[in-house]
Amino acid sequence: MKVPFNRPSLTANELPYIEQALKEAHLSAYGNFTKRCHSILEEAIGVKSAFLTCSGSAALEMAALLADIKAGDEVILPSFTFLTTASAFALRGAIPVFVDVHPENMNINEELVAAAIGPKTKAIVPVHYAGLPCNMDALQAIAEKNNLLLIEDAAHALHSKYKGQEAGSFGAISILSFHAAKNVNSGEGGALLVNDPDLIERAKIIWDKGTNKGELSKGLVSFYSWQALSSAFAPSEITAAFLLAQLEQSREITQERSLIWNRYHEAFETLEAREHLKRPALTADIQQNGHIYYLILNSQNERDRLIEFLLAREISALFHYVPLHLSPAGKAYGRSHGNLPVTEDYSRRLLRLPVFKGLDLDSQAYVCRSVQEFFSRN
Ligand SMILES: Cc1ncc(COP(=O)(O)O)c(C=O)c1O
Repeated sequence: MKVPFNRPSLTANELPYIEQALKEAHLSAYGNFTKRCHSILEEAIGVKSAFLTCSGSAALEMAALLADIKAGDEVILPSFTFLTTASAFALRGAIPVFVDVHPENMNINEELVAAAIGPKTKAIVPVHYAGLPCNMDALQAIAEKNNLLLIEDAAHALHSKYKGQEAGSFGAISILSFHAAKNVNSGEGGALLVNDPDLIERAKIIWDKGTNKGELSKGLVSFYSWQALSSAFAPSEITAAFLLAQLEQSREITQERSLIWNRYHEAFETLEAREHLKRPALTADIQQNGHIYYLILNSQNERDRLIEFLLAREISALFHYVPLHLSPAGKAYGRSHGNLPVTEDYSRRLLRLPVFKGLDLDSQAYVCRSVQEFFSRN
């Protein structure tokens, strides 16, 4: 039995919607499919404005422009994340300041965030790793107290909840990713979410390639002109048509993946009790979205051997994130706040198991059995 790590989810409507977009002959950005995606995201997540982008990385770059990040500003974020969480801000000349994560959930440690704040700090960028939300009460309080922007990297966390509220709705600005590996995908894709009403007009200009085209379409000006630094962030209507089909079923996709997540969690309870491994910590405050199921093994050697063991059984399991503060560009463009022992240790011991819509019960049972067998032999 072969179990891939991921299979991008598909619904029945991607092709019909793309055909419709072709018939409407509006293939560039800013059309009806894009508008429908925006409405769904605004309503489902509870944010004031959504803007589709070509990727989560593009949404982060748009966030850095919108936050008016300048050379020499500092942005606090975890080292345990995808590189564009940092690179988007470094592109503006800012310095990513890396802090350590909690061992229970690999999310940014709020006490270390507070300690890393200095006179140049402009923003805090928490990442909801694996779709388990960060402690948003604490992070919001720190951001407010220090007058800092909170920019949520919710790339993993569509429909995850913190105290019943959707991830992506806490930050002044948030981003989502619709990369093929994410729960809801359009191959490549993302979104910028804006909650701060004072930022919405500028977000529209940045999204409109730095122009006031929006005012032109309302008849408020007779021609449009260059207003702000920007780029081409919006995806084509073909991508938006594909994404709409996915977003219309995002609750069902999330539910199916969450059930898979819960089954893994139950299956490995005994192995955790016997101290063979650690599972991600679920607390009463958070609701996972089934994005990533990971285990922390007792050593890197054991993690690597388990990956090999599973591979020999045609099961694809992967590690995650070379810490940014240890990577060449992370060293060149960022700095660490103190030591990051949890990030360094846990990233060597973390293993991700297959999760995707359509992973059937037999395949998942085979994965669980194989992990259990590894420990009974070792
Ligand atoms: C935490 C995090 N942020 C941002 C991104 C960037 O998203 P994208 O691949 O859509 O550019 C990713 C991608 O995997 C990610 O894992």
